[in-house]
Amino acid sequence: MNNDILKTVCDQKHIQQVCKRLGEEITKDYQGKEPLVVGVLNGAIFFMTDVVRYMDLYLSIDFIDVSSYNGGTQSSGTVKLIKDLDSDVKGRDVIIVEDIIETGRTLNYIKDLLNDRGANSIKMCTLVDKPEARIEPLPVDYVGIDVPNEFLVGYGLDYQGKYRNLPYIGVLKPEVYQTKN
Ligand code: PRP
Repeated sequence: MNNDILKTVCDQKHIQQVCKRLGEEITKDYQGKEPLVVGVLNGAIFFMTDVVRYMDLYLSIDFIDVSSYNGGTQSSGTVKLIKDLDSDVKGRDVIIVEDIIETGRTLNYIKDLLNDRGANSIKMCTLVDKPEARIEPLPVDYVGIDVPNEFLVGYGLDYQGKYRNLPYIGVLKPEVYQTKN
């Protein structure tokens, strides 16, 4: 698996530093509140479980699953709800946690959904942001790292469901997805 990686973009140590920085920032911003932290399956599970451990808050967690990539490299443009939250978000301060934001479609879809359900506030936290890929404007409150528009895998990011378990984030060699697509 490691042989399919062209270069490392963010190693394990850097990822933990970013989780700590964001977790501490969120701790400060949410003093006196009990936020609902929503992880977007499947990609965000690794970041979600790390970053919440740096939040010194009485938070609760839940998960939602939506998809627009179907395992490939291009957004299909249509976001589908695959697994809904178990929690009622009415009146809650929600923090949506993502592994990566590209076009912005996924988070806009989730934000609109939770707004319609009466969330008190909604903030976005992503480990990786790819601003060059943005199609829909989206204010992001907590960003770990900005990355160039290359195809990334690892630490939750996949290609056709694989590579999520790489402990770092790297650029996939183009020949891997050119030959397999
Ligand atoms: C990825 C990622 C985000 C979304 C971001 O999810 O985890 O949810 O794409 O892209 P966008 O800003 O262009 O909408 P994906 O649909 O690939 O599912 P996954 O989390 O299961 O990999």
